[in-house]
Amino acid sequence: MSCERGLLDVIGTRASVRTFKHDPVPDEVVDKILWAATRAPTAGGRENWFFVVVKSEELRRKIHELLIEAHSIYAREIARMPPERIERWRKLMKGGMYLAPLYIAVYIDLSRLSSRNEAFTAEFVMEIQSAAAAMENAILAAWCFGVGSVWLGVPLLMEESFRELLGVPRGYKIMGILALGYPSETPSPKRRKPPEEVSKVV
Ligand SMILES: Cc1cc2nc3c(=O)[nH]c(=O)nc-3n(C[C@H](O)[C@H](O)[C@H](O)COP(=O)(O)O)c2cc1C
Repeated sequence: MSCERGLLDVIGTRASVRTFKHDPVPDEVVDKILWAATRAPTAGGRENWFFVVVKSEELRRKIHELLIEAHSIYAREIARMPPERIERWRKLMKGGMYLAPLYIAVYIDLSRLSSRNEAFTAEFVMEIQSAAAAMENAILAAWCFGVGSVWLGVPLLMEESFRELLGVPRGYKIMGILALGYPSETPSPKRRKPPEEVSKVV
């Protein structure tokens, strides 16, 4: 199985996908996605990342239930949405939004951070960035094979529940979950500010 599309085409056509067909992602594609994730740059060459690949139907249903709750917390506490809007969103989620044939949860092992004081923050940020780079590599590789995805940060709001469900050791910190699958509808890339507006050349 190979992906023939050019990198910039993959980058330019990607958009978050939140509703998925039920078809499973073939194992060869899952392997390529994970391989791409582990090819990301990694601070200090430490590869301090751990991926939980969830294919089991039972676990996926439980993850979906937690995602509904985590998004509701996000809507209330961070986005401060009015209750009627939250209710509409919950209905969409209960109807299948965010229910994916594949999830990949991404963790870092906090026990591997060794520095103290100011250096700790820098090291921690670098570990987060390494995990984020792995997540983006996975997203792009998936899209190259026509597998859509959405990066989910809301599990950070219910870390313990996700950790228990996924059987991950204490001391591992969740960086996010990727929901992946074939899109129910073709996603349209969102507009972005032009590079000139968000950069300067010196
Ligand atoms: C760190 C991070 C966390 C995110 N968390 C969520 C999330 O919890 N739920 C969600 O629906 N989308 C989430 N997203 C996806 C963004 O909403 C999405 O990337 C943004 O709206 C731009 O749309 P696009 O990806 O289609 O270009 C997250 C993206 C990032 C980078």
